[in-house]
Amino acid sequence: MPRYSRIIATGGYLPERVLSNRDLEQMVDTSDEWIQARTGIRSRHVVSADQKTVDLAEAAARQALADAGLGPQDLDLIIVATTTPDQIFPSTACLLQARLGNRGSPAFDVQAVCTGFIYALACADQFIRSGTVRRALVVGAESMSRITDWTDRGTCILFGDGAGAVILEAADQPGLISTHIHADGAYADLLQVPGGLAEPAGKAVMEMQGNAVFRVAVRTLEEIVHETLGANDLAPSDIDWLVPHQANIRIIRATADKLNLPMERVVVTVDHHGNTSAASVPLALDDAARRGCFRPGQLLLLEAFGGGFTWGSALLRWG
Ligand code: ACO
Repeated sequence: MPRYSRIIATGGYLPERVLSNRDLEQMVDTSDEWIQARTGIRSRHVVSADQKTVDLAEAAARQALADAGLGPQDLDLIIVATTTPDQIFPSTACLLQARLGNRGSPAFDVQAVCTGFIYALACADQFIRSGTVRRALVVGAESMSRITDWTDRGTCILFGDGAGAVILEAADQPGLISTHIHADGAYADLLQVPGGLAEPAGKAVMEMQGNAVFRVAVRTLEEIVHETLGANDLAPSDIDWLVPHQANIRIIRATADKLNLPMERVVVTVDHHGNTSAASVPLALDDAARRGCFRPGQLLLLEAFGGGFTWGSALLRWG
């Protein structure tokens, strides 16, 4: 019998501290009106000085475990998607594993910036389909505020912190129907953090050519949506919910338009989350799941685009 993976639980966590557009007006030359009109963002959450990425990951993971009625030892695999690990090593996944008290299961990070969660989901799905593991915890967790240049109005208005998690379990029926992941490193210069071990003089904050990123994101997300539908012989009208990466409401609307999906069928959290990078899709999924938006059997299309460039999608049947 074919083996599939399915999402059996979700979790999410947002740091308590909220930074509004009005707060940003005090920091850079911007306005609430401009930010809302160009991005759809009203506020975002940011970590406190003593809060780490693993703290966010742990809170989201514990909520997903509670949701599933499982304990840490029930997990056979832990993957954390993050661009903002607390340390170079151990991986955030290993730090999370120790916090949860799971011992012996493989644990590793995936770094694909805003597409990280889709990449991590694709990995976990492969492990489960191959029969290697039965249950996987997949987390997207970010402290983007730590790599934000708070003097650059072109980027500091966009990002937020948080974590989202899902638990995947082996099943006879999908669950996850297909995942599609891509990258093109030729675009690295358009969106990057130049600082690193080989570039100690480089700034460890995000630099982005927003306009160029915007154009490639819209085009690429349209392509990935068509690739996903084509691979499964589906029409746009078959999709019940779009769960997009929450970068900019204008990018989200453009993708929904291509699918002919009314915005009531699109999960939108960018207004109060901002762009939480790898945490964005699982946070949106958890938010909508907790609001009772999804019905069992509905078809969900998850998609994301991020630095690298990377992009990807996951098609799944809920419940
Ligand atoms: N407040 C006020 N004015 C601003 C601000 C601001 N915060 N930022 C830029 N402006 C000004 C610019 O200086 C420019 O002024 P000018 O015309 O006098 O030169 C004007 O507004 C227009 O600037 P644009 O950059 O053309 O504005 P745009 O409509 O493209 O919006 C934005 C900028 C929001 C950054 C948009 O380009 C965007 O969302 N890009 C995509 C970001 C993204 O999706 N990233 C995805 C992945 S993120 C990741 O992987 C980490």
